Amino acid sequence: MKSGHSSQNKYRPCTNFLQQHHLIMADVLRLIRGTLAMSSLVLLLAPGLPGCRSSADQASDTAQWLQQGDALSRAAFDTLRTSLMQAIATLGLPGAVPYCHQHAATLTASAAPEGVIISRVSPLYRNPDNAADSLDQATWQHFQQLKTQGDSLVPLVVTHDDRAIYYKPILLQPMCTPCHGQPGTDIPEAVMAAIRDKYPNDKAIGFRPGDLRGLWKISFPKKP
Ligand code: HEC
Repeated sequence: MKSGHSSQNKYRPCTNFLQQHHLIMADVLRLIRGTLAMSSLVLLLAPGLPGCRSSADQASDTAQWLQQGDALSRAAFDTLRTSLMQAIATLGLPGAVPYCHQHAATLTASAAPEGVIISRVSPLYRNPDNAADSLDQATWQHFQQLKTQGDSLVPLVVTHDDRAIYYKPILLQPMCTPCHGQPGTDIPEAVMAAIRDKYPNDKAIGFRPGDLRGLWKISFPKKP
């Protein structure tokens, strides 16, 4: 929902993505409440900055991206998990590795509406196609830092060029350890062999439940 006017808020001109980097759900809601309450006042008082959207518009866009990102990442995770469990049941764990190799990216992307790109990224990747770029790296470090401080990890949105990018942390669960845990103890040798075969440069082992494994990354086209 937009605030319904094109006035600009002179107190908060367009911020770039680095400034918005720490925008989290609570901040967004606070922003929306605050800015909507004073939007009529802003309409009267603020002369406006050309080319900028008001902070109320920006906050409501961000709230929408957060909501859509949550829904899409949940849908994509359900699809992936269901397919993975079926593959493990029919092919066995080692057989599920080449299955993931062939289908994971397609399954991940399949829930995306037109113009939206759904992916999973990590600096500690298995498939090099999922390697983190510099923005992903910065977000990864941000989440790792929060984790070290004992803070809870909630999704965030950063805007970058003409895209708005939703990030959500992916934490390792116990069911993931046979393929991402400790080789020898968690990961059976036959699975390690299948991993080495498909991913000679694998960086995605040695995780424990609760560790940050990767990020959901959902890229939306930014509104004009
Ligand atoms: C049967 C083995 C297996 C299990 C179980 C498994 N994964 Fe994976 N995982 C893989 C393979 C293989 C890939 C590479 C897929 C590709 O080529 O796109 C992968 C890729 C990923 C990626 C994408 C980034 C990267 O490293 O390429 C994430 C994130 C991920 N897994 C998280 C998880 C989580 C979380 C769980 C548990 C809920 C899990 N995996 C369970 C085998 C597995």
